[in-house]
Amino acid sequence: MPLVEPSHPYLDRLEPYHPPDLDTVAQEAGVNRNDLIRLVANENPFGPSPLVADTLASFDQIQFHPDYRPLREAVARYAGLPLSHLVLSNGADEMIDLLIRLFVEPGEAVVICPPTFSMYELYARVNRCRVLWAPCCEDLSLDPGGIERVVQRSDGEARVLFVVSPGNPSGLAVPLETIERLLELPLLVVVDEAYIEFGGESAVSLLPRHDNLGILRTFSKWAGLAGLRLGYGLLTPRLADFVERIRPPYNVNAAAVAAALATFEDLDAVQANVARLIEERQRLRDLLGAIDWLEPLPSQTNFVLTRVKGRDPGSVVDHLAQSGILVRGLSDPQVADCVRITVGRPEQNDALIDALRRME
Ligand SMILES: Cc1ncc(COP(=O)(O)O)c(C=O)c1O
Repeated sequence: MPLVEPSHPYLDRLEPYHPPDLDTVAQEAGVNRNDLIRLVANENPFGPSPLVADTLASFDQIQFHPDYRPLREAVARYAGLPLSHLVLSNGADEMIDLLIRLFVEPGEAVVICPPTFSMYELYARVNRCRVLWAPCCEDLSLDPGGIERVVQRSDGEARVLFVVSPGNPSGLAVPLETIERLLELPLLVVVDEAYIEFGGESAVSLLPRHDNLGILRTFSKWAGLAGLRLGYGLLTPRLADFVERIRPPYNVNAAAVAAALATFEDLDAVQANVARLIEERQRLRDLLGAIDWLEPLPSQTNFVLTRVKGRDPGSVVDHLAQSGILVRGLSDPQVADCVRITVGRPEQNDALIDALRRME
């Protein structure tokens, strides 16, 4: 039997992704899996609109390929742009992959600003591209001067820059002046707006003037549809047309299309939940700030990055898991002393605070 070997240069650096084993965590905490308080992946604790469940329960189109026209129209209306700017994707994740595949040749470079979302590095490596690092400032804000130096030193090999606004894990929005400054660089600037519904100013207004701008959005956070995998890119019509040429024709599944249309039918209620989460974010920050060994950082997202003083953040993550509460520890050096806590429902946040106080 011939043994085949992959010829991928970065396989040694890639690890399969293993999400937390919820059954084991629940068993160890002595709670039912459905009673776990999941504040680990910035999902929406209110879930999607109830219309989504109703729509999917009676969905009778599964045998057909999806029709994207109604969804494209609804998303373009929501984003406030003509249809020609929009490309749908299988989660924002897939749009990261498509943009790297389109703009970066193997061996060329992607610029990433750590600490940041891990998928940029993953897809750069998967696509056989180099990664150039332009770390954030000490206060976790973006360092445009540092990014410019990295791009200049790359001698034209840096082809795409990823910035997140508002940031994951920083929680900070990037001012539009900074984005405009970065748009002067000779590469594609991708602004990941996965959390834009929770704060910050969208870069959409810059699209008419900048052909090298790409914006990523998702239905995973504000709309509570993370499990259905729906995202989209906003680009100039010229770039959107290029992405359309390499987009798999049926990359978004029919259930996601139906769920997103139901979300738009119930937009006021879904947006009211977003507003509740924004209020709850402030209450959670105040409660965390009252614990003297925690320092919650400012947030314009649906999570609160929190510095842990004088103890190991890993022990906090473990202690909370034993109480059935999942939060995220981080490994990047600038945030290695932090935990990232997704804003939950009020009663979930209260349970989190009780569990943290029990550690005092
Ligand atoms: C900054 C950022 N971009 C993109 C995503 C992924 O979005 P999706 O679920 O649509 O792939 C996330 C999810 O955590 C994120 O934090």
